Amino acid sequence: MLSRRETILSALRATTGFAVAASSPFGTLIAGEAAAQPAGGVRLPLGAAVRDDPLEKEADYRAAIIRHCTQIVGEGGLKWYDLRPSRERFVYDRPDRQLAFATANGMTLRGHTLVWYGAMPDWTKSISSAAEAEREMVGHIEQVMGRYRGRIKSWDVVNEAIPDEPASRSDIRPSIWQQRLGESHIALALRTAARVDPQAQLVINEYDIEFVGPRFRRKREAFLRLLRDLKLRNVPLHAVGLQGHLRAEIPIDKEGLSAFISECRTMGLQVLVTELDVVDEKLPGPPEVRDILAASRVYDFLDAVRAGSPIDSILTWGITDRYTWVPLYFKRADGLENRPLPLDRDYRPKPMLTVIEHFLRDRR
Ligand code: XIL
Repeated sequence: MLSRRETILSALRATTGFAVAASSPFGTLIAGEAAAQPAGGVRLPLGAAVRDDPLEKEADYRAAIIRHCTQIVGEGGLKWYDLRPSRERFVYDRPDRQLAFATANGMTLRGHTLVWYGAMPDWTKSISSAAEAEREMVGHIEQVMGRYRGRIKSWDVVNEAIPDEPASRSDIRPSIWQQRLGESHIALALRTAARVDPQAQLVINEYDIEFVGPRFRRKREAFLRLLRDLKLRNVPLHAVGLQGHLRAEIPIDKEGLSAFISECRTMGLQVLVTELDVVDEKLPGPPEVRDILAASRVYDFLDAVRAGSPIDSILTWGITDRYTWVPLYFKRADGLENRPLPLDRDYRPKPMLTVIEHFLRDRR
């Protein structure tokens, strides 16, 4: 008789043409799911982005974070939009609470993010000269990193610096900083960060690095060009963050990704997975099938990352399908709920969790 997993795997093949050999590493892992579950209460070295509201108000949500995570990052709170309602005011309530929660539960908090084109308050549009941009950006990093010096030990100093369609290898995404200061704003941000907290891990964080296709290859090339240039000029930079918002309908370029990661390693950079989830907008409907497809993408991704380097950290962008940014941007046309994360909306573990645990256990 076929096991439940084998039944699902063959349904998967029939509905999608996607063949998972039960004997493949992924197939074995998924088939052995029940056996691989750790005993209750085991804390896994996983990280997740947290949302403030449920963290405060919902015991189940808090319990899931405490049970599964050793690090957290605010989904919001440290973004300019949240911190800086006006030029003069810094509002630290949310990150302060996140840090208190992390500390009380023996976790660390990552800092996300100091320099980004997104989530900028309107008033920053009035920054009109290079001198003013430099003053605002440097002042922001001094204030914010300074406040959490020694307490937030890893920072996404620069987020999403490479455009979606780089016109050339030297193309940098437009932002108020890029417009007023040019590419040099990136080195300035990193140098400022190193001066403010010399012990902190400084990270450049990026997405769309992992897929098959010329657009993604060009993005990898443009990203590598930037990283090499920073390293060549001795700009302080310790790690590359791969966001890992996997788009389920696009395969992972395993060779391209591991080659990219080996290159990063050669430059002395660590590699973190910072925002893992699976955008399942275009996957078939049935949750059991969809969850396996999503998990298989996560497997391919983490396998390719690990082929290029030991994985230093994995954070998912949320913990439960109940709270995720995905439907805001990638709502499914069939009206079914998105399922991008390791736990379902009732906090039950999904195959994706099995895969992540496998890679966390199997560190090299
Ligand atoms: C998203 C948050 O999850 C949303 O709640 C918010 O409204 C918009 O930003 N890449 C990033 C994150 O670096 O900051 C984004 O987070 C998701 C994509």
